[in-house]
Amino acid sequence: MKKLESIFCGRTFDDFLFRPQHGIVESRKHVNLTMPLSAKINIALPIIGANMDTVTGKEMMHALSLEGGFGFLDRHCSIEQQVNKVRYVKTRHSFIIDNPLKLPRQATIGEAKAFVGRHNISGILVEEEAGNNVLAGILSRKDICEGDSYDNRHISEFMTPFSSLVVSHRLVSPIEAEKLMFQGRVEKLPLVDENRFIKGLITMRDLRLSKQKPNSGKDEKGRLLAGAAIGASGDYLERAEELVKNGVDCILIDIAHADSEVMRNAIENVRRRFGESIQLVVGNIATAEAAKFLVNMGVDAVKVGIGPGKGCRTRLETGTGVPQLQAIREVFLAVDQKIPIISDGGTKNDKDIFMAIACGASTVMLGSMLSGTDESPGKIIQDPVTKQKIKLYRGMTSPEAVVDSSNGQEYKEKLQTPAEGQSMKVPYVGSVVDILGRIKGHLQSAVSYAGEESLYAAHKKITLDPLKYIIPLSFASQKESFDR
Ligand code: XMP
Repeated sequence: MKKLESIFCGRTFDDFLFRPQHGIVESRKHVNLTMPLSAKINIALPIIGANMDTVTGKEMMHALSLEGGFGFLDRHCSIEQQVNKVRYVKTRHSFIIDNPLKLPRQATIGEAKAFVGRHNISGILVEEEAGNNVLAGILSRKDICEGDSYDNRHISEFMTPFSSLVVSHRLVSPIEAEKLMFQGRVEKLPLVDENRFIKGLITMRDLRLSKQKPNSGKDEKGRLLAGAAIGASGDYLERAEELVKNGVDCILIDIAHADSEVMRNAIENVRRRFGESIQLVVGNIATAEAAKFLVNMGVDAVKVGIGPGKGCRTRLETGTGVPQLQAIREVFLAVDQKIPIISDGGTKNDKDIFMAIACGASTVMLGSMLSGTDESPGKIIQDPVTKQKIKLYRGMTSPEAVVDSSNGQEYKEKLQTPAEGQSMKVPYVGSVVDILGRIKGHLQSAVSYAGEESLYAAHKKITLDPLKYIIPLSFASQKESFDR
């Protein structure tokens, strides 16, 4: 194994600048940012939503996948709650919705209103009887009257009946589907067999969106990508089973100290149960020895970061950790390009993302940088005096997160141990889509300064010989660079 270069010892993001190289791209807009998330998954934007309850819920995971990034749902909730979030993402914007939402024809308009609101859909497939999956018609938003005078009437009175629907009795391509819907002037194309049995649903909204979002991360069925975290004890196997059953693309076994016997046992059990069929990411680690241990265990990516996170008190309370760029570089040299690395924690601005990738990471997990957005879970709070809008962000072992967790025994035990996480306010910053757009632009610029056409090429070139490209900074140069 190559020895860690001494310039990385004890160093992190603000300790370096990147030395500009002769540029070769005509416009930074053409720079490709695709990077590997794990052995078998590539993503168009190397940004991962942290598995924290103030960062990645269903809306965040949905937005990240749609924009080309990825998200891991946090595990501090019941299995059912976590699985429902996976289902939410998996049933949005796929080319074919495998198992579309339905109501029976006997349901009332009042029930349909609540259903449409709950699932944020524009129309409902109506089945002959609850659960029999035989298509009776479609109830669109325009069929649902305002006011409550019709709330007790059956939806079958207002729906478009099967005989008037445009349907397809076979699988069609996106182009064929668009043509059929255009000819029939409809927005939804149910797929049914000869007995009206529902086989799927194609919607015009999803077809349009796939054209608008060509970078979104999709599985082989055209559904958005979804990731979820599990632990290494308690209900983790049952949780993984349900997540896999519901189409999760990548499982993250996430514990504070992954270089451990508890983790060895968990990985062996997960692999015994699911084989190589699932993509398995494991974290967190921060040393070369830990990286070798996990590579030998056959994981598909490692997550690196002990203590750099904004909501994290591990270094303060235990004195344990490795400065983040040193950790990334150590792990990079140890894994010897066999698997990708996710840098996790301590990313304060866009240049840190590029630095992490230049030194060895393939993707970067963000917590606080995504937590003040519309899509993160939690309310926007306005300070009555300053009028400043904020959201709350908290470490997952902060007392507040532990108390709110419904994950049974494991967290009851954690309540007895001192906290290694803390809560804080973060400024409200609007939609995550704008944040991701800004990050994308800055990464594209950084690649153009690096004299390459793609982030992957820049990563390959710089990681091979970082001393040629990375400039260690004196205190005065740090001030000159970052003090504004
Ligand atoms: P950033 O800096 O992006 O960090 O906000 C996100 C990462 O912080 C980690 N995390 C914790 N670490 N105690 C810790 O030691 C905690 O309570 C805690 N909560 C989150 C986690 O790795 C996350 O992705």
